[in-house]
Amino acid sequence: MTFSVRMSRIKASGIRAVQKRIAGKEGMISFAAGLPDPELYPLEDLRKAADTMLEKEGAKAFAYGLTKGYGPLLDFLTDRMNNREGVECTKENICMLSGSQQGLGMAAMMFIDEGDVVITENPSYLGAINAFRPYGAEFKGVDTDDDGIVIEDLEKVLAETPKAKLIYVIPNFQNPTGKAWSLERREKFMEVVSKYDVVVVEDNPYGDLRFKGEQLPHLRALDKKGQVMYLGSFSKILSPGMRVAWACASPEVAKAIEELKETNDLQSPELTQMLTYYYLSMFDLEEHIREIQVVYKERCELMVEMIKEHFPPEIKYTDPEGGMFLWLELPEGLDSDKILDDAVAAGIAYIPGESFFSFEGVTNTIRMNFTMVKDEQIREGIRILGDVFKKYI
Ligand SMILES: Cc1ncc(COP(=O)(O)O)c(C=O)c1O
Repeated sequence: MTFSVRMSRIKASGIRAVQKRIAGKEGMISFAAGLPDPELYPLEDLRKAADTMLEKEGAKAFAYGLTKGYGPLLDFLTDRMNNREGVECTKENICMLSGSQQGLGMAAMMFIDEGDVVITENPSYLGAINAFRPYGAEFKGVDTDDDGIVIEDLEKVLAETPKAKLIYVIPNFQNPTGKAWSLERREKFMEVVSKYDVVVVEDNPYGDLRFKGEQLPHLRALDKKGQVMYLGSFSKILSPGMRVAWACASPEVAKAIEELKETNDLQSPELTQMLTYYYLSMFDLEEHIREIQVVYKERCELMVEMIKEHFPPEIKYTDPEGGMFLWLELPEGLDSDKILDDAVAAGIAYIPGESFFSFEGVTNTIRMNFTMVKDEQIREGIRILGDVFKKYI
C-alpha cells in the first residue's frame, strides 16, 4: 500500500507514548491526562435534555442536517459570541465543527501550501503542530513570557519570513503552559499582525475555564481586517465526546470552512448538536461553568502550594489563572523524559514537554494536568515527584 507523502509526515504523539509507558500499572497517580474531569459532565441534565429532545424531535434528531450546523445552536452561539465573548458577529461568521481539532485540520487544508511557514508559540499544542505538518508546513516558534507571546520576537520572525502564512496561538490558558496573554499583548499582537498578509488561528478551548482574574478580549474581537479564525469548543465545558465546536471568522473564511466541511464529513452530528442546544435552552450553562471553575481552581491552587513546598526551588512553574495545565521548567541539562522512568517507578506520570515544540532538543520541561486528579492524589503525587526531582537536583 502506498500512502501519500502527507502520511509520512504524521508524527507519533508524545502523549500516547506516555500512556503506553503507564498502561496496566496499578495505582499510578497521573498528571499526564489532557481531559476535563468526567465527574463534572452534567450527566443528569444531559439525560433530561436528551429525553425532551427525543420526545419533541423524534426522527429529526437522527437525520442529516445542514453542513453549516444546527440552526438553533448557531443562533445561540451567535448571541453568546456577541453578548458574552465580546465578538461582533452574525451567523454568516460561524460554522459548526466536529471538535475544534477539525478546525485545525481545516485551517491547514485551507491555508497551507508546501513550504509555507506556520508561526506558533514556543511551546504549543502538539495536536495543532501535527495537524499542520502533513501539508508541508515549516515551523517557526516565538517565545512567550508571563504576559504572552513576545512581540519583539514575533516582529523579527515576521519581518524575516516572507513565506509566513499562518500564526497559530492559544491566548487563554495555553496547552501546555497554562499561560494567558495580557490585554496589552493581545492589542500589540493584533497591531503587528495586521501589517502582514497572514491568517491568525485563535484556538480557545480553555477560555471559559478562567478561575481567576478578569476575562480579556479575544483576538477576534480586536481584529479589524478579518484575519482571525477563532475556534471555540464545548469539549472542556460540557463534554469532549459530543464533538461540538465552532469557528467564528470572516464571512469569506466561514464560507470556505462550510465548503470544505462538505467534502470532509458533510456535517457535524445532528444528534449531539441538537442535544447541546436542548441542554443550553433547558439549563444554565454559565452556572455549570462556574461549578467547574471552583473545582479546577482548588486543584490548581493545591498543586501550586504543594510544588512550593516539595519541589527543589530551581524548578520553575507557571501559576495559571485557568485551564487544565501547568508547566514545569527543570534546570538546563536535565532530561524530563529520562526522569519519567524514575517517576513511573515511583507511581507518578507526567508528559515530558519536548513534543510540544515544533523542533527537537528542549528536554527539560514538563506538562502537568490538574483537572483529573483528586486533592489526595495531588498532595501525595507532588510530594513523591519532589523526591524524584531531588535525586537529580
Ligand atoms: C489547544 C487545544 N486545541 C484544540 C483541542 C481539541 O479540542 P476539541 O475537543 O474541541 O477538538 C485541544 C484538546 O485538548 C486543545 O488542547
